[in-house]
Amino acid sequence: MSLLICYATETGNAEDVGEMLWREARRRGCKSPRMASFEQLSLESLASERTVVFLIATSGQGEFPTSARSLWTCFRQKILPNDYMDKMHFSVVALGDSSYQKYNRAGRLLRARLVQLGAHQLCPPAYCDDQHEIGIDGAFQPWKHVFFEALKGVEGFERILDSKDPELSERPFVSKFRLRFCDGEHIDEPSGSAEYVRVETISNERQTSIDHFQDTRLITFNIGNHEEALRYRSGDVLMIQPENLDESIKIAVEALKLSDETLDRPFKLEPTDSNIRLPPGWLIGTTTSLRYCLKRVLDLQHIPKKSFFEILSRISKDEDEAERLAEFCQPENLDLFLDYTLKTRRTAAEAFRDFYRTASQLSHEQLFDVLPLIRPRAFSIASSPMAHPGVIQLLVAKVEYKPPIAKMADLRRGLCSCHLTRLRHGDMVFVRIRDGTFHFPSPETPIICIGPGTGVAPFRSVINDRLRIHPDSESLLFFGCRGRFSDYYFEIEWTHLEKPRIFVAFSRDQEHKIYVQHLLKKEAALIWRLLQQGAYIFVAGSAGEMPNGVCEMLGEIGKEIGGEENLVKTLETQGRLQFETWS
Ligand SMILES: Cc1cc2nc3c(=O)[nH]c(=O)nc-3n(C[C@H](O)[C@H](O)[C@H](O)COP(=O)(O)OP(=O)(O)OC[C@H]3O[C@@H](n4cnc5c(N)ncnc54)[C@H](O)[C@@H]3O)c2cc1C
Ligand SMILES: Cc1cc2nc3c(=O)[nH]c(=O)nc-3n(C[C@H](O)[C@H](O)[C@H](O)COP(=O)(O)O)c2cc1C
Repeated sequence: MSLLICYATETGNAEDVGEMLWREARRRGCKSPRMASFEQLSLESLASERTVVFLIATSGQGEFPTSARSLWTCFRQKILPNDYMDKMHFSVVALGDSSYQKYNRAGRLLRARLVQLGAHQLCPPAYCDDQHEIGIDGAFQPWKHVFFEALKGVEGFERILDSKDPELSERPFVSKFRLRFCDGEHIDEPSGSAEYVRVETISNERQTSIDHFQDTRLITFNIGNHEEALRYRSGDVLMIQPENLDESIKIAVEALKLSDETLDRPFKLEPTDSNIRLPPGWLIGTTTSLRYCLKRVLDLQHIPKKSFFEILSRISKDEDEAERLAEFCQPENLDLFLDYTLKTRRTAAEAFRDFYRTASQLSHEQLFDVLPLIRPRAFSIASSPMAHPGVIQLLVAKVEYKPPIAKMADLRRGLCSCHLTRLRHGDMVFVRIRDGTFHFPSPETPIICIGPGTGVAPFRSVINDRLRIHPDSESLLFFGCRGRFSDYYFEIEWTHLEKPRIFVAFSRDQEHKIYVQHLLKKEAALIWRLLQQGAYIFVAGSAGEMPNGVCEMLGEIGKEIGGEENLVKTLETQGRLQFETWS
């Protein structure tokens, strides 16, 4: 009788949480818990499992992660009898973000289907929300407590330890990896995964006025050597494997007390358990160095979660620091934890600096226990395959802000956007193409694009493409920015094109704020006419209030002009209203 932890992830969170759960299950005495991703499983093998935790992220617009879609299709087969999974006890941990319209939809669908197929729910699901003040942990931690309690009631799990059992703290910490130094060997540079290729930066041009607070760049990469691997369509996304910023590396290296010699010493990693995966793109036998890992593999800039403090406190040999680290993990000290982490946006590198006695004792392999992997970030491609051959362009807004409580003097910086905005001509970056959520119709069909801010990126791509294929194609673009002279992206380019028709909402150029929704209202008759001709509507950009505002306005247009009560729903069902939004 063993526990299976089954995850479906797009950007890695579900796998990280799964790994935490797996480690805890092992520590509490579950016999041989296993981890598997959706794509490694068949429906038949799942049906024979007795105890399963499903960790399911929602991606796209309320969809299953790409790697989970084929198994989900099997789940939905109508011919499955309603006792197909009746031997299984399960619980669902859904990972989502309540700023998206279809909040945690994949987890909800899976849970409902499991119940339909006769599986028994061990405890209520966790609906994790990126918007929660402590993120995923907000729902995951309380769920974990209830789950292990419930698990004790299942045959074969009666003897698992309680979280407060003194025996737990006596159990030695087992690292994920074993390490073997291999002095003299050449250091490999694994790329993140086999699909990633290295491209050269051609240019990096600021698109906002120099006095504007937001620094947004148009970054151009040469894809000449990788035309095949980087073939893309308008609406696709470029995944970027970022690097830690130099200032974070410096802080960490000082706190960890690493000499140049140690940083450059070659070593290999071997998983200590068959459930542990090497970082993406690594093979057994890959030779690496700490310098490489601290730049390209281990995330020094993430805001530490509770598990960070928990692991550090367990491996610390400094009594005082171990006690302070453990305090962050206690539920009654939530404010302490929030003040230290989220409110100041303190990074893992800075936490190493604060707990330098513990940090300086960490072994190479323990760094892989404490730090998560750097995850790739997505960027909508702003160039058009037809109009900009041989290159890919991105429109990147640099994330840089003061922390919510201004105790910290330093500005906080987004890992990938800052890495990108610092690129110079000739710098190399690991990238791959990922399908976007948008499916554009043929150029004969009108499109209405709504993309404020960097949300304009995919529309620059598709509009340029359509004009080259079909010069009379009808495209409307609703763009929004703060002011005509501060952040009106691609203004000159648009003025050189006869089509499309561009409507720009300058939010701050007058006393009252004007947003894209207001312009939709102004152009209601035109929008309705195009919808009658079969137009598609695309919305891209911030997942905040904008998409809801747009939907409300479209609903109003439907009612007032066409007398249609459910325009938004109808368009969505027909695939004629599509969103690509990010928070
Ligand atoms: C499909 C898709 C397409 C995208 N396309 C684009 C695009 O074309 N252009 C573009 O610029 N971005 C785009 N993004 C967003 C991009 O992927 C990154 O999320 C963004 O660049 C930030 O990443 P980062 O590594 O710089 O920041 P991270 O290191 O990941 O930090 C971001 C985090 O910082 C915090 N934060 C940010 N601002 C503040 C603040 N003011 N106060 C407090 N906390 C704050 C938030 O918690 C946020 O989650 C897209 C995302 C997706 C999913
Ligand atoms: C492109 C994108 C689309 C998303 N769409 C949704 C969504 O429709 N509903 C939702 O609840 N969360 C959505 N999210 C939030 C993710 O589900 C959430 O960040 C989760 O923690 C990701 O887990 P993963 O890293 O395992 O993929 C989306 C995130 C991204 C980046």
